[in-house]
Amino acid sequence: MTRMQAFTGWIDARFPMTRMWKEHMAEYYAPKNFNFWYFFGSLALLVLVMQIVTGIFLTMNYKPDAKMAFASVEYIMRDVEWGWLIRYLHSTGASAFFIVVYLHMFRGLMYGSFKKPRELIWIFGMLIYVALMAEAFMGYLLPWGQMSYWGAQVIISLFSTIPFGFGEPIAEWIRGDFVIADATLNRFFAFHVIAVPLILLMLVVAHIIALHEVGSNNPDGVEIKKHKDENGIPKDGIPFHPYYSVKDIVGVIVFLILFAVIIFFIPDMWGWFLEKDNFIPANPLETPEHIVPLWYFTPFYAILRAVPNILSSQFPGVAAMGMAIIFLFLVPWLDRSPVKSIRYRGGIYKFALAVFVFSFIALGWLGTQPVSETYTLFSRIFSVLYFAFFILMPWYTMIDKTRPVPERVTDK
Ligand code: HEM
Repeated sequence: MTRMQAFTGWIDARFPMTRMWKEHMAEYYAPKNFNFWYFFGSLALLVLVMQIVTGIFLTMNYKPDAKMAFASVEYIMRDVEWGWLIRYLHSTGASAFFIVVYLHMFRGLMYGSFKKPRELIWIFGMLIYVALMAEAFMGYLLPWGQMSYWGAQVIISLFSTIPFGFGEPIAEWIRGDFVIADATLNRFFAFHVIAVPLILLMLVVAHIIALHEVGSNNPDGVEIKKHKDENGIPKDGIPFHPYYSVKDIVGVIVFLILFAVIIFFIPDMWGWFLEKDNFIPANPLETPEHIVPLWYFTPFYAILRAVPNILSSQFPGVAAMGMAIIFLFLVPWLDRSPVKSIRYRGGIYKFALAVFVFSFIALGWLGTQPVSETYTLFSRIFSVLYFAFFILMPWYTMIDKTRPVPERVTDK
């Protein structure tokens, strides 16, 4: 026995290290036909770790105080060694996170990865998505720029539209004041640096435990566990390590190259990742001309603005925005198709998914634009298309003509 084996033996007698390594890496059998779309889970993990590490270093120099916050960020950018890099990695990392997660969710919709027996993977994923939105929203207040201040003011005021007298007390309770103020900044800091990241980490662990319990889906939507060899190993499976650990590293390198290009040349992405107004310190006495959230929220913001006020209440718009997210949670039960992957679905689902994605992107763009009659009309049309994707799903997935699914993966 080598010293190394003796050492791992010592640990294994006290902690299931080797067993966990085998279960989740060396003997986790993943379908052999993973394609491009399967990079984004591991990339999301990478960005999560990057956000946590850069966040820790930002926290060392950031001051969660309404009088000092803006200046402390400027201090990080100008005086702290490599502070500009840490800050851009974190602020651009937030947008990268949403890009990766949106592509990851799109993959799920394409290959029916949310369908039985993977409903819980999807539900944990959706909870991650909601937590991620909360994390990004609260993080954006911290630099205490004009858009931080007024963006938060607009979004928190939405709670005050809740009817029957509940709204305003709830909004005040969230802010800790009648307007966004130092108390708000302090509590958002606490949530952003510890509470929500903890929840996110726990959800990601649950997401992966649920995934490894049932096994990964794949571009063919075939259950590889149905065909096992004499040792009980799926015939279409390959060990995650080394096959996919190595493949994922290729994805990581390509991602890091693209990410570095953005960080070093266009960290603000011409205002899409860091808004121009946020380079001006927060001023409670001066409202910016256009208050818009960052791009990853604008599809929902467009839905909010598309719904007309009823009895001069903005609540219907707020409710629609909430429903836009709730429907995503329900997809595993709305989809009645007998097949998972888009490869074997009929034209209707392909068309519906294409319209949905186009509407989501169009709403995202409309949400960044100032209000006008034409844009409101388009926002209404795309909002209807967005909701139609979900509401009509039980019907069109049932009548859609599917093709026979092969028994084994096709390795296309
Ligand atoms: C921090 C964010 C997230 C992380 C770190 C993460 C991580 C992962 C990883 C590592 C995998 C396995 C590799 C892969 O299939 O790509 C995976 C699979 C999956 N994720 Fe996520 N995920 C995140 C967010 C989400 C969200 C928001 C959803 C959807 C609402 C989602 C839905 C799924 C589904 C359905 C699978 C199974 C895919 C399949 O087997 O085909 N995930 N996730």
